[in-house]
Amino acid sequence: MTTDTATQSWLARLPKAELHLHIEGTLEPAMMFELAARNGVKLPYADVEAVRAAYKFDDLQSFLDLYYQGMNVLRTRADFHDLALAYFRRAHADGVAHIDVMFDPQGHLKRGITLQTLMDGLLQAMMDAQAEFGLSTSLILSFLRDLPAEDAMAVLEQAAPWYDRVAAVGLDSAERGNPPGKFAAVFARAKAIGLARTAHAGEEGPPAYIDEALDTLDVCRIDHGVRCIEDAALVARLRAAQIPLTVCPLSNVALRVVDKLVDHQLPAMLDAGLNVTLNSDDPAYFGGGMLANFRACADAFGWNRDTFRKLSANAVKAAFMPEDRRKKLLNEIRKHD
Ligand code: HPA
Ligand code: ZN
Repeated sequence: MTTDTATQSWLARLPKAELHLHIEGTLEPAMMFELAARNGVKLPYADVEAVRAAYKFDDLQSFLDLYYQGMNVLRTRADFHDLALAYFRRAHADGVAHIDVMFDPQGHLKRGITLQTLMDGLLQAMMDAQAEFGLSTSLILSFLRDLPAEDAMAVLEQAAPWYDRVAAVGLDSAERGNPPGKFAAVFARAKAIGLARTAHAGEEGPPAYIDEALDTLDVCRIDHGVRCIEDAALVARLRAAQIPLTVCPLSNVALRVVDKLVDHQLPAMLDAGLNVTLNSDDPAYFGGGMLANFRACADAFGWNRDTFRKLSANAVKAAFMPEDRRKKLLNEIRKHD
């Protein structure tokens, strides 16, 4: 089914909040070349087309290999600023009003980039986006779960000067074999500091990792979580607690979590009364941003406007944003027709 143009335009204007977005995953091939030239970094690709041709993934790890390689062009405060502001502009054009932005400090620290460089660039872009086009943002400092928990703890301590500008901690990277419980002490420390908590779980990893993230990390939401549908008791738990699930449809297709979007768990998740939100994850790698994800779902599932209003409201309710802004956006969503 292809969505009519009136609905496409309605979706573009629907106020949206994005809760699952890795800023390093917004690096478009053209910017990769621009930053490589600016910093004298040699790329293993001849041109933009060659980069795009390389973006054929078998699973999460095959993506992560290119994702970490791509980060290598990010060196200076200006690089992080330009990367983030360029994405914020595209998101604003997609009708996104708010983004909880994940970033992976360990992907940069191990390359000799300081936290100061990274934070200065990101925070400046966030201020610029607010001032130039009214986009609100917050930050989720994410740990790489395939590295030791001690490394994550060290990064958390190192981030002390910025605790008041970080909303939450997150957990990403290679899921299988890296259960949430490995980071229980790190997340307990984050809680003591006053930071909210979220974690990727049930993307490639088993449904049990979702239970484990809730039990051992005290997370307020789950990133992806699509494999919950394999476990009826877990679905009942997620429904009862209305845990927000930050689902990324085009990402799940690109990383072969599902074969085709029409086979996605989303309709079953909605039928089960789960608290679902739609997100882009790594838009430069997975075929598009928020609007592309909304439109792909409209095409695949034929959802009506009430469903999209509900999905958007779910995201605004679960976002790390000031209460007055939340109230304003929920009102705009309710009135959008
Ligand atoms: N899963 C795990 N780690 C990630 C992802 C993802 O989808 N994107 C960037 N890091
Ligand atoms: Zn992710």
